[in-house]
Amino acid sequence: MGCIVLGITGGIAAYKAVDVARQLTVQGFSVKVIMTESATHLVGADTFRAITANPVALRLFEEGRGSIQHISLAREADLVIIAPATANILAKMANGIADDLLSTTLLAVRSPVMVVPAMNTYMYEHPATQANLRKLDERGVHILGPAGGSLACGEEGRGRMVEPSEIVEAALEILGLSSALAGKKVLVTAAGTREYIDPVRYISNRSSGKMGYALAEVAHLMGADVILVSGPTYLKAPQVRELVRVTTAAEMRDAVMDRVSGCAAVVMAAAVADFTPREMSEQKVKKGGKDGLTLDLEPTEDILEELEKSSEKGRITVGFAAETGDLRVKARAKLEEKKVDLLVANDVSREDSGFDSDYNRAILLFKDGREKELDLMPKRELARHVWDAVLGLMDS
Ligand code: PMT
Repeated sequence: MGCIVLGITGGIAAYKAVDVARQLTVQGFSVKVIMTESATHLVGADTFRAITANPVALRLFEEGRGSIQHISLAREADLVIIAPATANILAKMANGIADDLLSTTLLAVRSPVMVVPAMNTYMYEHPATQANLRKLDERGVHILGPAGGSLACGEEGRGRMVEPSEIVEAALEILGLSSALAGKKVLVTAAGTREYIDPVRYISNRSSGKMGYALAEVAHLMGADVILVSGPTYLKAPQVRELVRVTTAAEMRDAVMDRVSGCAAVVMAAAVADFTPREMSEQKVKKGGKDGLTLDLEPTEDILEELEKSSEKGRITVGFAAETGDLRVKARAKLEEKKVDLLVANDVSREDSGFDSDYNRAILLFKDGREKELDLMPKRELARHVWDAVLGLMDS
């Protein structure tokens, strides 16, 4: 996806930069961190090393890194983000001062630069800081925030660093990635359904909703109007246009069919029950005798099949296949059966991915026979691959 150089300076908000680095990495960026000396007093370089899987640059002259690290980092960057940006780094940038690795790199970059100021209100309001920000703005530097509120120093006012998710959103915007799905309505399903036997017992599966929520969040970041139809989950509601909570397969079917009109894409990541009790007992079923209990199950309606029947011109339909062996063969058969444009096949018998994991490993199978096998990766990164594939299908 590209390289982001993340410069961290010595503000209390430096700890929040850990989340910025994490979210950017999850988006699929290679994140190269540069820390100023002051920043290292507030948060450890090892944390960034672990999160980004890249070395952290600390000094102009570091053993083993050559003496022109600032030039190589500047060349690599598709975007430079300074978060938090103290009054000091803003002053250096505005005046072209290059006295450490970060400020020197900043003089050599050709990519867009975004600064995310964070400081005490009086420092922010000081005419010198305001003049520096004006200078940077005139030079085309993107300035995000600061937000208002109570600050670490006890003052109230502007000076808080904006939240990591807003920084990531702004970064995608600057890189032109946030608009890839702009103006498009998409529908995503997530999590498992519950099929009730009686008022207290149900049949369900291990789906946590993480895959579907990642797809919804990434589509939102790419500018789409997202409708998320979700089975029961403990996940926090993501930022989408509409979140529809359902419980059973029948409710999920109704929610999807009621809202699908006008959607450019439907992605069915939910683990919808294939069977449901023919009748739900109104009362809790008694333990009974030694004969045990036999459940009479009937098939649920297949939502993808119905979508195919009501297909609108140009709408892209994506199914998921949760398999436990012979992944490719079973998934190809499912692609034919469900008549989807793209099938995301994941092996749910693995411990490191699939149900309830933050990671997944999948093969993208296209209707025209193409295949793309992906490594183990965070679900949000896989979501990005899925949406890129959907965009490719929309263009073809
Ligand atoms: O939620 P997580 O914990 O993050 O786990 C993610 C996941 C493993 C659930 C997800 O990646 C996944 O594989 N989802 C699909 C699970 C599934 O139901 O697979 P399936 O092979 O049984 O169904 C194939 C497709 O038909 C799916 O897109 C499913 O949504 C759809 N289907 C199934 C039944 C039904 N009645 N109607 C449908 O449309």
